[in-house]
Amino acid sequence: MNRLPELFANNRSWAAGMEARQPGFFGELSAQQAPRYLWIGCSDSRVPANEIVGLAPGELFVHRNVANLVMHNDFSCLSVLQYAIDVLGVEHVIVCGHYGCGGVQAAWDERQLGLVDNWLQSVRDIAHLYREQLLALPTDAARRDRLCELNVMIQARRVCRTTIVQQAWEHGRRLTVHAWVYSLNDGLLRDLGFCVSDLASAEAGFSRVAGLGTLGGGPAGD
Ligand code: CO
Repeated sequence: MNRLPELFANNRSWAAGMEARQPGFFGELSAQQAPRYLWIGCSDSRVPANEIVGLAPGELFVHRNVANLVMHNDFSCLSVLQYAIDVLGVEHVIVCGHYGCGGVQAAWDERQLGLVDNWLQSVRDIAHLYREQLLALPTDAARRDRLCELNVMIQARRVCRTTIVQQAWEHGRRLTVHAWVYSLNDGLLRDLGFCVSDLASAEAGFSRVAGLGTLGGGPAGD
């Protein structure tokens, strides 16, 4: 039986390092967490949420799944969102996708991977909805990148459309939803220009950055 001793060794070293840099760190952290940000990102091992934005334990509440999807029937994601907003009081929800996302690529290529195809069906729907815009791009690489961006923006708009966020805004809570994309090639984040603090701005902001206006829009894509 392999009990993965190397990971426990890493862990002891990490904990000792944290405590050395900031004595009492774990004692304070165990008493409470008060993160200002919720991160909804991809499960991809190359996109470690805390590290990318240089935040320590306690500073970033995180939900990750394949292709960073926000599904209105996903109680895991919705529970994280509700707890983060209503209980922890986060002020920012960041939906962060990444270029080179395997889930998005599989959806674009219509490649079959197994059970996960069902999860990725909504990304296929997005590819279908934006097919015209995507095919107008010069290369397949550009189309995949754009589909990653469109997927992030649609998920960010979905966050805005949840009852959780709408009620927070109705109650006058200060809460901003962001859509970012991370590049595996240079380790840098891009802000996609979707940064909204109310529902009207969410819909308008989405149309502006996603180019929905030129494609006609409609209820699909939500
Ligand atoms: Co991914």
